[in-house]
Amino acid sequence: MGREPQKIQGVPRHIGIIMDGNGRWAKQRGLPRTAGHKVGADTFQKITNYCAKIGVEVLTVYAFSTENWARPKEEVDTIMDLLRSYLKNSFKQTRKDIIVRFIGDRAPLAEDIRRMMADAEARTRDSKGMILNVAVNYGGRAEIVMAARELAQQAVNGELSPESITEELFSGELYTAGQPDPDLIIRPSGEHRISNFLTWQCAYSEFVDMNVLWPDFKEKHLDAAIEEFKSRDRRFGGI
Ligand code: IPE
Ligand code: IPE
Ligand code: MG
Repeated sequence: MGREPQKIQGVPRHIGIIMDGNGRWAKQRGLPRTAGHKVGADTFQKITNYCAKIGVEVLTVYAFSTENWARPKEEVDTIMDLLRSYLKNSFKQTRKDIIVRFIGDRAPLAEDIRRMMADAEARTRDSKGMILNVAVNYGGRAEIVMAARELAQQAVNGELSPESITEELFSGELYTAGQPDPDLIIRPSGEHRISNFLTWQCAYSEFVDMNVLWPDFKEKHLDAAIEEFKSRDRRFGGI
C-alpha cells in the first residue's frame, strides 16, 4: 500500500491499440457518433496513464487513419477538435513521465494543430518514461511509401547503393525508427482486421481482438489482453 506500482512481469514492451467502436457505442445509445468520440478520448487518456504505470515502454494508438477523411465533415471536425483540446490540456506544462510523438502525415492538418503537436513533442522530448505514439493521418502503406521515397532519393543522390538497403535501414526511415516493433496489437470493437495500422512493424505482433467498444474499454480489458498475450507461444518462424 502506498508504494510505487511494480512493473508487471511479462508486460509487452510495445503495445499498439486500434481505438475502434466509438460510432457503434454512440449508436447503441441513440447518440450522434461524435458523442462516442468524446468518450473515446477520455478512454484514451485513462489507458495511456495506465500503460505508463505498468511499465509499457512504447504505446502506439491509432487515432485517425489516412482513410478516415472519407467520413462526414462534421465527424472529422469533431475528432480534430478533440485532438486540439487534448493538445491544449495535456501539455500545458512539461510532462516528465511521457514522451509524446505524433506519427503520420501532418501536412494536411490544420496549422494550429501542427504547431501544438510540435510544441508537445518539444516539451516532452527529454522526459523519462513511456513513449506515446499518437497516429494521426497515419496509414501503414503511406509510411512505407514515404520510406521508399526517401531511400530512392538518397540513391539518386549517389549517397546509397540499392544493395545496401536492408530491413534495418528501411525500419530506420519509418516514424517508429529506433523503437521495438509492437509485441501486442489490441483491437476492441470485435473487428478482426488491421486497417492499415503499423503495416511494416506488425509482422510478428500478437493480435488480440476484443468484444468491447473503445468507450467502454477499461484497465481490466488491457490486463486481459496482456494475459492473453502471455499465454501465446511466439515463435518468430522458429520451432
Ligand atoms: C474509431 O471508432 C475512431 C476513429 C476511427 C476515428 P469508429 O468511429 O470507427 O467507430 P465504429 O467502428 O464506427 O463503431
Ligand atoms: C481504424 O478504424 C482507424 C482508427 C481506429 C483510427 P476504422 O473504423 O477506420 O477501420 P475500418 O474502416 O473498420 O476498417
Ligand atoms: Mg471503426
